[in-house]
Amino acid sequence: MSYYKINNLEQYFKHYNKSIREPRKFWGKIAEENFVWYQAWDKVVDFNMGEADVKWFVNAKVNITKNCIDRHLAKRGEKTAIIFEPNDPNEETLHISYNDLYSRVAKMANVLREQGIKKGDRVCIYLPMIPELAVAILACARIGAIHSVIFAGFSASAVTSRINDCECKMVITSDGGFRGNKTVDLKGIIDEALEKCPTVEKVLVVKRTHTAVSMKEGRDYWLQPLLYDAIPNNVAEIMDAEDPLFILYTSGSTGKPKGMLHTTAGYMVQTAYTFKNIFNHEDNDVFWCTADIGWITGHSYILYGPLLNGATTVLFEGIPSYPDFGRFWEVIDKHQVTQFYTAPTAIRSLAKESDEWVDKYDLTSLKVIGSVGEPINEEAWHWYNDHVGKKKCPIVDTWWQTETGSIMISPVPFVTPTKPTYATLPLPGIQPVLMDELRNEIEGNQVVGSLCIKFPWPSMARTIWGDHQRYKDTYFSAFPGKYFTGDGALRDEVGYYRITGRVDDVVIVSGHNLGTAPIEDAINEHPAVAESAIVGFPHDIKGNALYGFIILKEIGEYRDRDNLTKEINEHVSSHIGPIAKLDKIQFVSGLPKTRSGKIMRRILRKIAEGDFSNFGDTSTLLNPEIVDEIKDNKI
Ligand code: WTA
Repeated sequence: MSYYKINNLEQYFKHYNKSIREPRKFWGKIAEENFVWYQAWDKVVDFNMGEADVKWFVNAKVNITKNCIDRHLAKRGEKTAIIFEPNDPNEETLHISYNDLYSRVAKMANVLREQGIKKGDRVCIYLPMIPELAVAILACARIGAIHSVIFAGFSASAVTSRINDCECKMVITSDGGFRGNKTVDLKGIIDEALEKCPTVEKVLVVKRTHTAVSMKEGRDYWLQPLLYDAIPNNVAEIMDAEDPLFILYTSGSTGKPKGMLHTTAGYMVQTAYTFKNIFNHEDNDVFWCTADIGWITGHSYILYGPLLNGATTVLFEGIPSYPDFGRFWEVIDKHQVTQFYTAPTAIRSLAKESDEWVDKYDLTSLKVIGSVGEPINEEAWHWYNDHVGKKKCPIVDTWWQTETGSIMISPVPFVTPTKPTYATLPLPGIQPVLMDELRNEIEGNQVVGSLCIKFPWPSMARTIWGDHQRYKDTYFSAFPGKYFTGDGALRDEVGYYRITGRVDDVVIVSGHNLGTAPIEDAINEHPAVAESAIVGFPHDIKGNALYGFIILKEIGEYRDRDNLTKEINEHVSSHIGPIAKLDKIQFVSGLPKTRSGKIMRRILRKIAEGDFSNFGDTSTLLNPEIVDEIKDNKI
């Protein structure tokens, strides 16, 4: 029996139970039967959860791109690997075959090597959703360079801090990017960012928008001429199973973003396994994940997961509302997409438009539809089910994180009966537990607690780049011996999980998790601001929006509050990015604080939500009177 594909519920339970009893055998067999290795492992897993020290497939040697590309060439060389769907529907779609992908990646890998990039070097990739983004990522993996993709919506200062944190040697960017009817000046942002990045030696620039940009002599090179001269063959670097594959930054509840480090073999095994099972992938399918490759969802389910399975994956440059609200559905129809994977925020924003946009396209090619990034509310679930899946496509509500690398809890389509708003059951090999406030494991069903994982899984992040202590403190200290996800969850009467949201100071806005602390830091830098506190509040489209409570220094000096609100938001936009803009700002004279000086966010959250009914225990507050003041002045 192969463990690679789950065919029915009985088999799911069989695999699941086996994976808990004998995790080494379980993952070992999947790894052995489904990938090409230069050398097998000595041990499937070696770990010490207390020290946050985990290794999978110890001493094995592998290259992930050999598994993503080379091994498919004999049988599937002419099969389409990537369908590139441009922002402008009138621009031609590009079908990149596995053969073509091989030579593109080989050429790019050769260019990187010629430009001085070696195994272990960090390369920052700041590109729009164009084929070069996929090719650059795979070329890094080919030669063992560590890619650090930065979402091309981040501002210059956010780029600077990420580049400096992992000391990138090179940046790959483009003259610009198309987004709906706008163009974004990516090269300009990189130029500004690099003013403060001493480690970057070279910048390779893709021509996409043909906008005029400045090129710095000796640092900046156009990529296309270099590729033109490169040889379309490349010998892959032999990587250790635990060699780093990539760094991807995610927001933390305090301080600077965390560079989550993922390594090679474990990430490969679990992204491939989950892709196959969660999307029920078959050979002639066309898979489309609408995320940006700048986020983990794009890494794992636009690129690595599909390519590892020899699938056809859609790379979409545009946005759901351009040229009109039918774009997603038009693309599904045009390419006969069989699996569609998107975020609740996109579903909600399209559900509020006329149903005609979706109903006029032929979506009968769809077999499975998925959701990721935040809890999907019941209304959005039903709209998705009725209008997109036409009640015949199971919805896979997939729970996972940047830190987990791939999907952890999700229905297996046609196997696990779905239930609206529930991520349902853990994948085989994954051992979730719910913990109470006294750090005890909560047994049984119909219970609520903090979601932890009690046994390592292959695609888990191994550390935070340059700060293992922070990795330990953030994820392995709240519940000793276990990985703490930061999410709360409930387990229903049959053992299905429903993720209820973050229990820490991270707010998920439009599917992007934003730490409140870095936003507060940015606001506090504004000369008028003394202190601030950010909380999330429910928002129809975005899931959550940000509400800022702000104390000003000299109240008299800034009489023009509208202007100040605008200025503060511009400041946040330029320091973090437009996604972190505050929807509401309330100027206050103080913030509710405990005696130890910690802001009591749960009270601010209630005020932001407009729920004044019960603030709970406020006796530990240093300044309880401030609660009424803030409540009464709520705008
Ligand atoms: C939330 C995205 C409910 C959760 C892959 C998690 C979800 C955070 C779901 C990670 C889901 C993700 N249901 N909540 N199906 N999927 N989340 O790192 O709070 O961008 O901790 O990874 O998103 O977000 P990240």
